[in-house]
Amino acid sequence: MPLSRLHSQAKACAEMVELCLCRALLEGAPADRSLRQVFYANRQLGSRDRRLISETLFAVLRWWGWLRQLAPKDFQQALEDKKSGLPENIALDWSRVLVGAWLLESPKQPPEALQAWIEQIKPSPIRLAFAGQDEGWQQKSLCLKPLFTPEKTPELELNGLLPDWVLAEMEPAAAADPELLLNCLQKRPPLWFRAQVKDLPGLCRQLAEQGVNVTAHAKMPEALRCLESSVNLHTLESFKRGHFEIQDLASQNVALICDPKPGQQWWDACAGAGGKTLHLAFLMQGKGSVTASDIRKYKLDELKLRARRASFPNIRCKHWKGKQMPVWNARFDGVLVDAPCSCSGTWRRNPDARWTSSRDEIADFVALQKQLLQNAAPALKPGGVLVYATCSMFQAENQGLIHEFLRCNPDFELSPFVSPLDQVASEGMRQIWHWQGDCDAMFVAKLKKRR
Ligand SMILES: C[S@@+](CC[C@H](N)C(=O)[O-])C[C@H]1O[C@@H](n2cnc3c(N)ncnc32)[C@H](O)[C@@H]1O
Repeated sequence: MPLSRLHSQAKACAEMVELCLCRALLEGAPADRSLRQVFYANRQLGSRDRRLISETLFAVLRWWGWLRQLAPKDFQQALEDKKSGLPENIALDWSRVLVGAWLLESPKQPPEALQAWIEQIKPSPIRLAFAGQDEGWQQKSLCLKPLFTPEKTPELELNGLLPDWVLAEMEPAAAADPELLLNCLQKRPPLWFRAQVKDLPGLCRQLAEQGVNVTAHAKMPEALRCLESSVNLHTLESFKRGHFEIQDLASQNVALICDPKPGQQWWDACAGAGGKTLHLAFLMQGKGSVTASDIRKYKLDELKLRARRASFPNIRCKHWKGKQMPVWNARFDGVLVDAPCSCSGTWRRNPDARWTSSRDEIADFVALQKQLLQNAAPALKPGGVLVYATCSMFQAENQGLIHEFLRCNPDFELSPFVSPLDQVASEGMRQIWHWQGDCDAMFVAKLKKRR
């Protein structure tokens, strides 16, 4: 690419990254949503530019705990003052942050724009080196050193990559080894599909012909890990026909733990756009029914579309208006409450949320989760199964909540299960961690209503 073109491309892309960063970190707007808006407003962008912008943005957010110290002073001040915006028309220099992110990510092939961003750093020239893919934490932090002025080089500690309250909210056993968690949070997450057809080899072959290489999970054969994709998945014929859905492995584990049987009646009480509803319906082979309900109608509309795409006849949607969930009495064989939560288990896929979530929110989520679980419980027939799930890694939303539910509801008991993801048996509650399956962190509890 000619040098002048490279410089203008690097500058334009940097500006879009910076815009999304400001929106995410100062205004709390989800980064993926801002990115979609930026792409929509700049439809002239080619796929290379889009990839550069999104990869740089997510790399910065992944390493923000360290990179924040290289951010422009005005921005740091605005963050500290909790301002929701920046003064207009101030030119900020983000080049150190953008360069730092790529040094830490150590890509096999760095983007061309990196050189242009390095040239922005004053005073130049500056000697930089990539951290190395499998380097230890200390080595990684050292690669940022040349980006700081000698008198202002901070100590970059491993725990600085997490908000300071996070470990105290986790199970003590997991909190004792933050490196395990950070080894996962600092890497790009894999993409998982869930096959919705019986002919798996046929689907894999068809995907490969279209440039999408997948490999089946060793213990969950319908879970396909996407190794490489050069195409927009939504345009594939197999996607349009509902032959597969994009769904994280930990989420796929939930419906398998529910283990619905053909002919049963299930209720997915917090169905959203129906990732787990579709999986339940698939496992029931079109026999029996799944009632999907949610407070957000537009999400249920999305679910209806997905169900039609996959030709599932056994899904019924029920929108609940206001805060009160429908009350049903002893009607279902199984109820899934996939509750709204802090979503801390998805921080690998949404690295901005790691920095915009607050500890105070947890208590509000717990209050809502308790109410939802309590309201859903009467809908079970005697002997029925109640599954509670969150994509949270915090104890209060998970084990704490279930212990309290069991204390208040002696007609329920824990129901032991084996997690399909790794075949590990549990007494009725399981916190799945990223490192146990290269997936989101997810909590699942399985309860049984006594006869
Ligand atoms: C974790 S999400 C569900 C994800 C979905 N089960 C899936 O697999 O795609 C939680 C859902 O609970 C719904 N919800 C139900 N009651 C709610 C309430 N009172 N406040 C907020 N969200 C609520 C949200 O609309 C949201 O779709």
